[in-house]
Order: sequence, then C-alpha cells, then structure tokens
Amino acid sequence: NKVVLAYSGGLDTSVIVPWLRENYGCDVVCFTADVGQGVMEMDGLEKKAKASGASQLIVKDLKEEFVKDYIFPCLRAGGVYERKYLLGTSMARPVIAKAMVDAAKEVGADAVSHGCTGKGNDQVRFELTFFALNPELQVVAPWREWEITGREDAIEYAKKHGVPVPVSKKSIYSRDRNLWHLSHEGDILEDPANEPRKEMYMMSVDPEDAPNQPEYLEIGIVSGVPISVNGRELSPAALLTELNEIGGRHGIGRVDMVENRLVGMKSRGVYETPGGTILWAAARELESLTLDREAMQTKDMFALKYAELVYNGRWFDPLRQSIDKFMEEITKTTTGSVTLKLYKGSVTVASRKSPNSLYREDISSFENGAIYNQADAAGFIRLYGLPTRVRAMLEKGI
Ligand code: ARG
Ligand code: SIN
Repeated sequence: NKVVLAYSGGLDTSVIVPWLRENYGCDVVCFTADVGQGVMEMDGLEKKAKASGASQLIVKDLKEEFVKDYIFPCLRAGGVYERKYLLGTSMARPVIAKAMVDAAKEVGADAVSHGCTGKGNDQVRFELTFFALNPELQVVAPWREWEITGREDAIEYAKKHGVPVPVSKKSIYSRDRNLWHLSHEGDILEDPANEPRKEMYMMSVDPEDAPNQPEYLEIGIVSGVPISVNGRELSPAALLTELNEIGGRHGIGRVDMVENRLVGMKSRGVYETPGGTILWAAARELESLTLDREAMQTKDMFALKYAELVYNGRWFDPLRQSIDKFMEEITKTTTGSVTLKLYKGSVTVASRKSPNSLYREDISSFENGAIYNQADAAGFIRLYGLPTRVRAMLEKGI
C-alpha cells in the first residue's frame, strides 16, 4: 500500500513522511502543487522528500488551471465570504486535492494524506474533494492522530528518524500563499484587538507608503471573465501576476477580519489580495451596465450561497456546479472594459464601457424623450403605492 501526501517541504510535512511509514507501514509518495505560492526551492525539493523517506516526489504546475477553472468562476460569481474574504485558500484546496486524486491513480496509491490541523477549514476542503472524486481512497490526517504538539516535538521526531530539519526558520504566523492571495493567522493576530504589524505584509506596501500619484488601469472583460490589462491580452495566471504587482505597489486589497470557521470557532485572519481586489471591483462595475435590477439582485443572492459552498469545501457538489452554470448564463453579456484608479490602498472607478450596456443616455438624461414619458410615472406610482395607501386608510379609519 501506498499513500500520496500533500507535501510542502516544511517541517510539518517532512515529519509526516517517516510518521506515515512508521504508523501505516506504507510507501510515501510526496506531492507538491505549484499554485503560485512562490518561495519554493523546487530543485532541492526532491532530494529533501527522499531524505525524509519518500519513494518519489511529484510536482505539478497548477497555476493556469487554478486561475482559469477556480479563481475566475468565483470572481464571475462574485463570491465573498462574510462580507470580506475573497476565498483565496478555499479555492486552492480543491484544485490541489483533485490533482492528488489523479496522482494517486497514476502511482496506484490507495490512500491520501495532508498536513492540515484538526481545527481548521482546510482539512474539510481536502477531504470533501477526496470523497467527491474517489470515495475509495483512505484519508490519513496525522495532525488528528499523533502526539506531536509543537515545533520542538516535531524537530525531535525528525532528528530521531534521521529527517533533515528544514533550515528555513519558521515564521511566527501561519501563512498560506497562492496566486490569488496571502493569508496571515496566529501569533499576535490571535487577539482581535491587536493591529497587525506593518512588517507582516508581503504582497502589498502599506497604503501610507504607496506612490503619491494615482495609477489608471484598464481591465478588459469578456462574459464576466477578465482577459486583458491596458489592452494587452494575457493568460489567466499572467494577468493575475501582473495585477498583483501593480495592486501591491499601491497597497490594494488588505483585509483584516474575524471569521466563522466551518468547524464552529471564530478565527482572526489578515488577507492580502491585491490583484483579486482590482478584478473584483472591475467585474462588479461592469455588471452595473449589463445586469438589470432583478438579475443583479438574484445574482447577488446566489453569490452568497456560492461563497459559502466554496468556503465549506463543497467545490465539487452539484449545487456549486449548478449555481456556476447560472452565473455563466447571467454574465454572458458582461463584456467590456473598466478603467480603475488606484491610489494609496483604494480602488475607484474612472470609466466603464460595454457594447451590451443597458444604460441609455437618451432615456436617463433629464430631457423628456419619446421612450420615457414623465406623465406615465403618475399612474405607476399610484398603483405601486396602492398597498401603502390602503394600509394608511385602515390605520386612520378612512
Ligand atoms: N481562514 C482562511 C480560510 O479558511 C485561511 C486559512 C489559511 N490556511 C492555512 N493553512 N494557513 O480559508
Ligand atoms: C489549519 O488548521 O490547517 C489551517 C487553518 C484552516 O484550515 O482554517
């Protein structure tokens, strides 16, 4: 028997390798996905995995798939969890777990394993994806089983098992980075009354230190999906990479929040989503031209459910997929361009244009025109307000 382990090369996952061999007597295949987390020494990684006792390391570049098939659908849907969180970690888990299921099939493994703790959302997202795509795989979550409780324990276990202890010193924060965002949790952040330290941030400058000159940026969108920056068409991953750089420079996309985890507890997190925040603003702005009132309200209602499903690890549920079809259909005409102005942490709209715009100057202007006759409003208001008048008459005994 063989297990595919989600492997980062850090201390925790390095210790999981000998632990799995010792406790399950299985062959360990390490799996590392590139979702744009950067900072990975890909060259040294295979040597490291093998030194920990793995039989092999599989590395998959999932960046384009991640942005095209996970991030952009979520963006099109307008998914936001609890008013603020743009779901960066939530979207990354299903794409990684799906690739692990494929890898397990390739190498003939009957089990999968991950390094998530038993207190978080990530374990749920990994495991619901495993369940949905291959219910026969056995799932091993060492953090829920072993006695190792802290960093010192883990180092000791590593030394005892001849595993090289990663030299990179662990940061005091629990971080998760990918092409969409970077999350920070733990340490001083665990008290919601503490302001984050300036040095903590990695993707964005402090808005106070951002350039004194605003920058204009044009985003091109086709059917709710971004395709270009300042008229240049880019692949999904390249587009997001570029916007992260530009947005980060202007201190865009910082969020500090207390959120409700699926497992019931509240947790405090700080997120940096520079490019994502720009794209989110652009997509919503274009919808103001292309969606009518009922369509927008209904879309926003479903967006709430969509975000909840993604946060809770239900990416591969038929419900998420069906709502996605609705989102695709309702945003078919959301095509055009939005020019945004970035300035010291803020994104404001400067211009929006769409060939499918429902806005008509000849109707909306203050002039009287042929299509909209102001006299029609009198009868409309009388009937629209009929229930209001009837209730008032009752109250006043008329
Ligand atoms: N609280 C966020 C979420 O549930 C971020 C989780 C970060 N995960 C991590 N392994 N550091 O999506
Ligand atoms: C973890 O507990 O593994 C990270 C935090 C989370 O999953 O929410």
